[in-house]
Amino acid sequence: MRLNAYLARAGVASRRKSGELVKAGRVRVNGEPGQLNTFVEPGDVVELDGQRLEPEPLVYVLLHKPAGAVTTARDPHGRPTVVGLVGHERRVVPVGRLDADTTGALLLTNDGPLAHRLMHPRYEVDKVYEAEVEGEPNDEALARLAEGVELEDGLTAPARVQRLGRSRIEGTIHEGKKHQVKRMLEAVGHPVRRLHRREYACLTLEGLAPGEWRELTEDEVHALRRA
Ligand code: URA
Repeated sequence: MRLNAYLARAGVASRRKSGELVKAGRVRVNGEPGQLNTFVEPGDVVELDGQRLEPEPLVYVLLHKPAGAVTTARDPHGRPTVVGLVGHERRVVPVGRLDADTTGALLLTNDGPLAHRLMHPRYEVDKVYEAEVEGEPNDEALARLAEGVELEDGLTAPARVQRLGRSRIEGTIHEGKKHQVKRMLEAVGHPVRRLHRREYACLTLEGLAPGEWRELTEDEVHALRRA
């Protein structure tokens, strides 16, 4: 891992500020002055101002996001945030976002590279949503959702869609455009009343009430890395 990423992981500062510390000559790797392009390997000794650093352990948290919480670390309007709800001693950040009124599965982590990968549509991480909508979507509406819907920022990728009730549908998508599910349903004439993310990749909310969270198991972390 690059030296600035290592410093950020160790909780020293953001990557950018860590880069400044490196440029200022305050960081040594195995006794040598660190450079911006220095790569840190397991077993390397990294020191800041002569103090040895240990990288922060990686943590992965699954939150059952309740309605009303915002997917940020801080909210200027004083609403509860997902980071505050988790209150983890490590600096975790949400992977992607759910709207304030959306409930469901939200992953938070301090593993920046994995978070980045999971958010990239190329990796096609499945997200399963349950939506309660206005009206009763017919087969044609479901077929349009499944094929892909033209939104102002482009055509959505094909989705897996099924009816759960007259006004309830389940949709599995792997993209993460802003308000995507709501905009897709609006585009086929059925605005969303309630939206819930039941699954994120291999993670389900089993055993978690709204507002509760848990750390992922090692198997789950490996599964995410393979996703
Ligand atoms: N799509 C939406 O429209 N909202 C969400 O919160 C998540 C996906």
